[in-house]
Amino acid sequence: MTMKAQGGIAQAEKNERKPFQDGGAPSLLYLDRETIRSLGGESSDLYVEAIEQALTLHAEGAYVQPLKPYLRTDSKDGHIADRIIAMPAHIGGSRPMSGIKWIGSKHDNPRKRSLERASGLIALNDPDSNFPIAVLEAGLISSMRTAAVTAVAARHLARIGFRYVSCIGCGLIASAQLRTLLEQFPHIEAIHLFDVSMEAAERLKAELAERFPNVAYHVEQSAESAVRQGEVVVTCTVTDTPYIPYEWLQKGTFVSNTSIMDVQKDVFLKADKVVVDDWDQSNREKKIINQLVLEGRFSREQLHAELGEIVIGQKAGRDSDDEIIILNPMGMAIEDITCARNLYYKALEANAGTSLKLY
Ligand SMILES: NC(=O)c1ccc[n+]([C@@H]2O[C@H](COP(=O)([O-])OP(=O)(O)OC[C@H]3O[C@@H](n4cnc5c(N)ncnc54)[C@H](O)[C@@H]3O)[C@@H](O)[C@H]2O)c1
Repeated sequence: MTMKAQGGIAQAEKNERKPFQDGGAPSLLYLDRETIRSLGGESSDLYVEAIEQALTLHAEGAYVQPLKPYLRTDSKDGHIADRIIAMPAHIGGSRPMSGIKWIGSKHDNPRKRSLERASGLIALNDPDSNFPIAVLEAGLISSMRTAAVTAVAARHLARIGFRYVSCIGCGLIASAQLRTLLEQFPHIEAIHLFDVSMEAAERLKAELAERFPNVAYHVEQSAESAVRQGEVVVTCTVTDTPYIPYEWLQKGTFVSNTSIMDVQKDVFLKADKVVVDDWDQSNREKKIINQLVLEGRFSREQLHAELGEIVIGQKAGRDSDDEIIILNPMGMAIEDITCARNLYYKALEANAGTSLKLY
């Protein structure tokens, strides 16, 4: 057990909750996407609050989060987005919870099967007994929590009052990112979109224009033209080939590198601040930061901060309007478990969801 784990476990031991029960027999609560929606699961506020809690727990070390294994069944040259990831975590604090997100992905689901790329479940376990107490549909929570990470980071790392946002890749994750940013930052004036599929970009433009009609939307002809116009740049592609060089970024840009493989190495080397969610999760799996570390060109000492340290005020966020700051958010299981925990308690209060007997 690491030092990080101890705060959470001690709290859990004080807590006397019992596993979810239905007529005396252990049961769990199932929350499908519709039920999650009915509990406010499409509102960015719910996720922003949960992500601030999760990042605070991260900075305080009140969590346990093993490195996530990737299940790949293709040969070595399979698509980077074809995998199932297991993401277990325990969160401490006043409402401790354990659980796992089990999230599958096939890059060709949208095109070939008319399905979302990602799909999955979150299981929550009562930390006293370790019994499973809930299962939640994970796709909605996962996309919204990922967007909330960008929004929380933008509060600290983007220029105050930023007006222009660029998004590369216009699928489901992009939609959640932009809806969240538009809800959380009503001063945004224009969105610049680029996707290798013009149809995807036009579809997202139409979707956003219906919900946020007072914003200007521009579908760009190239990633370069989109990136050059953004004060906040979000990547939401499924590429494994970096294409964004440092010189495309205007002074003062905040990049949320959500799809991880879009930004070229020189951005990490030349940016004023490099921020990650979790160093150990970021420095693996041959992702760009890991490649730079293996080449001896980047190290933890060159990292400005983990995001939680900025959220709790231990490290600085943006210091000047000119800084170029990049966030590499690998995605953390504690984020999913915190969001799912908050939704679980909301469901109990609202008497929502379907009870399933374990035995
Ligand atoms: N960091 C995190 O925590 C986190 C969490 C969830 C998802 N993601 C990542 O978000 C990404 C997007 O997921 P999604 O569900 O929206 O996928 P999706 O398949 O629905 O959409 C991806 C879009 O990107 C476009 N695209 C692909 N390559 C491109 C390129 N080089 N330039 C421009 N556009 C390109 C595709 O045409 C498609 O429209 C994935 O890479 C996923 O791994 C990250």
